[in-house]
Amino acid sequence: MADIFSTDDNSTPLSPEEREGLKPRWITTRKELNELETRNILEAETWLTNQKRLDVLNDSFLRKLHKKMFGQVWKWAGEYRSTERNIGVAPYHIPTKLKALFDDVSFWVENQTFSNLEIAVRLHHRLVLIHPFPNGNGRVSRLMADMFMQQHGENRLHWGNGNLTDITDLRNKYIESLHDADRGDFKALIEFVKGNYEKSN
Ligand SMILES: Nc1ncnc2c1ncn2[C@@H]1O[C@H](COP(=O)(O)OP(=O)(O)OP(=O)(O)O)[C@@H](O)[C@H]1O
Ligand SMILES: [Mg+2]
Repeated sequence: MADIFSTDDNSTPLSPEEREGLKPRWITTRKELNELETRNILEAETWLTNQKRLDVLNDSFLRKLHKKMFGQVWKWAGEYRSTERNIGVAPYHIPTKLKALFDDVSFWVENQTFSNLEIAVRLHHRLVLIHPFPNGNGRVSRLMADMFMQQHGENRLHWGNGNLTDITDLRNKYIESLHDADRGDFKALIEFVKGNYEKSN
């Protein structure tokens, strides 16, 4: 099976596994898929800007956001995965791990344990580590962190103009920073979302 993480060839036909759950049956290449997903995500952004009050720290918002971002493309949008991945918790742990995460984040906010930016970074890192959905975890978790920032009156984070999905130096740096965060070191990821890696390159 093609490794969805490492493939960077936009014209590569999607494998049968990758096509599973795809709504528009005419899609055959990654490029077409990326374009459709990007368009869907833009509509989700419009939906978000029209929301009066955002309460992002709960799993119903997470699922709703994922559905808004990917619902035109994937049948399973907004539904947690039921199979194992090489990243992420066991499927039956997803709801409890998410609840623990949202409780932790609420605690950090109430007690001002970290800056809002560091809380957003930690929220992002834990969300992708849980990996609740079959796909789109990076994108929904980046947007969740941004929405957390907005809810707290802060600017959105720097994710490299949404280019992180493509295999670039920027993406490699992002993944490296996530690996540091796995070891409890959030410095690189914090610098990354401040846009400091982009500025120095
Ligand atoms: N070793 C890793 N390799 C790739 N992604 C990783 C790794 N560790 C954590 N991740 C996270 O998982 C995400 C990829 O998961 P998934 O394919 O479900 O999301 P996506 O939205 O389709 O990803 P993306 O837009 O980043 O390509 C990455 O964006 C990153 O946040
Ligand atoms: Mg993906």
